Amino acid sequence: MGTGLKRKDLLGTRDLSPEEIGLILDTAISMKEIASRDIKKVPTLRGKTIINLFYEPSTRTRTSFEIAGKWMSADVINISTSSSSVVKGETLKDTGLTLQAMHPDVVVIRHSAAGAPQILAGLLKASVINAGDGAHEHPTQALLDLFTIREKRGTLAGLKVAIVGDILHSRVARSNIFAMQKMGMQVRVCGPATMLPRYMDRLGVEVFSRIEPAIADVDIIMMLRIQLERQGGGLFPTLREYSKLFGLNLDRLKAAKQDVLIMHPGPINRGVEISPEVADGPYSLILNQVENGVAIRMAVLYLLAGGQAAAN
Ligand code: CP
Repeated sequence: MGTGLKRKDLLGTRDLSPEEIGLILDTAISMKEIASRDIKKVPTLRGKTIINLFYEPSTRTRTSFEIAGKWMSADVINISTSSSSVVKGETLKDTGLTLQAMHPDVVVIRHSAAGAPQILAGLLKASVINAGDGAHEHPTQALLDLFTIREKRGTLAGLKVAIVGDILHSRVARSNIFAMQKMGMQVRVCGPATMLPRYMDRLGVEVFSRIEPAIADVDIIMMLRIQLERQGGGLFPTLREYSKLFGLNLDRLKAAKQDVLIMHPGPINRGVEISPEVADGPYSLILNQVENGVAIRMAVLYLLAGGQAAAN
């Protein structure tokens, strides 16, 4: 178990305390400084082994966990399930026990099934980090989102955010709702009725069926991708109509505050949920989110796996 977080695994934001979230965000500040050095290498996790076990595609999360581990001198092994014994029918349990026999310190897992990281955590001595499980949670994404907002606004408490799009299938929305509320933010969700789960009002968020009132007086607009890969179809007529009703473009942005921050976890569907002018515009934090993903994942790896003092 690491020196900083009094837990073996990071499975979600739902069970993190505000103090734990604060510790991760504060630790990420010194981790981010390493990115600006000529030599991006510290001995913090020397001798530690990290396995990235991704059952679903990923660009940002997998790459940033790999960079984070390597910058801290850990040995990082990436397993793509399409070229592993998973294609021969090996179960999650057997894959986990096989990896455990090689003594990793951390296993980072992404899986299409909600709860898969929890199952693995129960089997392994290694710390398990959830890199996204089905529509359940994506805790490091929420943490990097909070870090990005705090970096821009200097605080989190009291800020208002509208999360817009495919809420039903979004692990990013769920992890952000839990984490943002713990840090004193007010959360709204907005999307077609078919993409707004019924339990949303029980989570203490405001629910909007139209985008204009949802974004009218918020500090942050977080747009989400339509997750066609998780849908059975029929949740909206066409992408064109979805874009017309819920897409964020320059014209629609006039309904928001002048200095509103625009976020998106990526990958974006340009011209569907967000227009290129907004995605690439002055208030877009999309690439800041990606950059901060490395710092947050360094912080989480360090706090779970321990090692020498950070940033040396
Ligand atoms: N935001 C996010 O999880 O992106 P990837 O699927 O590219 O990792």
